[in-house]
Amino acid sequence: MYLRAFKEQLVAGPVGARPRAGEYTSRFERWDALASVRRRPRREFEGEGTGSLFFPPELYPVVKHPMVASRGEAVVRGLLLQRLYDYLDFTTELENLAVIPVATKISRGRSGLGLPEHMRADAHKIVTDEAWHAQFSDDFVRQITSSTGCPRLGVEGSEGPSFVTRLDELRERLPHALRGVEALLFAIVSETLISGILSDIPRDDRLPSPVRELVRDHAEDEGRHHVYFRSVLRYLWPALTPSERRAVGPLVPGAIHAFLEPDYGRAASHLAGIGLKREEIDQVISESWPAHEVRRDISGAASQLTRYFAEVGALDDVRTLSSFEEAGLVGIVHESEKAGYVPREVTA
Ligand SMILES: [Fe+2]
Ligand SMILES: [Fe+2]
Repeated sequence: MYLRAFKEQLVAGPVGARPRAGEYTSRFERWDALASVRRRPRREFEGEGTGSLFFPPELYPVVKHPMVASRGEAVVRGLLLQRLYDYLDFTTELENLAVIPVATKISRGRSGLGLPEHMRADAHKIVTDEAWHAQFSDDFVRQITSSTGCPRLGVEGSEGPSFVTRLDELRERLPHALRGVEALLFAIVSETLISGILSDIPRDDRLPSPVRELVRDHAEDEGRHHVYFRSVLRYLWPALTPSERRAVGPLVPGAIHAFLEPDYGRAASHLAGIGLKREEIDQVISESWPAHEVRRDISGAASQLTRYFAEVGALDDVRTLSSFEEAGLVGIVHESEKAGYVPREVTA
């Protein structure tokens, strides 16, 4: 088992047989001075302080639905607290399941790609960053639970965040010979998306300052990871054969949705917890997250990533392009692009 794990590459086959292309400029040379694990203190949750909300209601619109809002402020606050717990748990799982294993493989030279030595060395720093993000998110849940006396609810028997199941479903669609590539692809996707959470929370003074500081610490590290994984994509795509590209390209929109689509299952569980019946839950969820709005928001958050895939030629394949079109990811000019927006914050 250990020997197999040692040898296993993300992209199978001899590295020398694959075209080697791409370029890499490190953003990690000042890592010791910049990384949150080195530079930032443990964030301590010392009560709610001046912040009156645990999570921005705009990012969790079920709380604004009349059938929920009418239940009173305490119910809304409780739901926003649960949403914060879910976000922190999502972060810990994402780092552990989707990013750390891939960065570890890259760091040990087993990506299957011909990456420069200093890119491998930087992958070690990403592993450390992500382990710290997972640790501080988990620690923060414990601190908030003990400070507020409100535990995280609805996790007994839960299958975890919805992205886990969604990624498994995508993986099942790949030929066995290609297993491993999808892990690399999912890491690239999750690390180059721009989520509203990382970009909005640090600036939202309705939230307790330790929450904002914790998310800001994370977002600053993720700015470097974003640039890194964009480079990984630039090495990956030319290294794949045309048939490999045709197999994995159409999975990208599904991966984007896996990370960004609301976790309806968790929301349903929380709504049941406040006493809503099944039909009421369905109504609240469908009216709070109309499908066209969800698609529009995801498309906006993925616009940079979509451009990166277009730049490496991924959309030259007809099936890949049509999967991007069906997901509503191409053909829309977003405000961020018009303004020449430069990404700073991403999902994990
Ligand atoms: Fe990251
Ligand atoms: Fe992270």
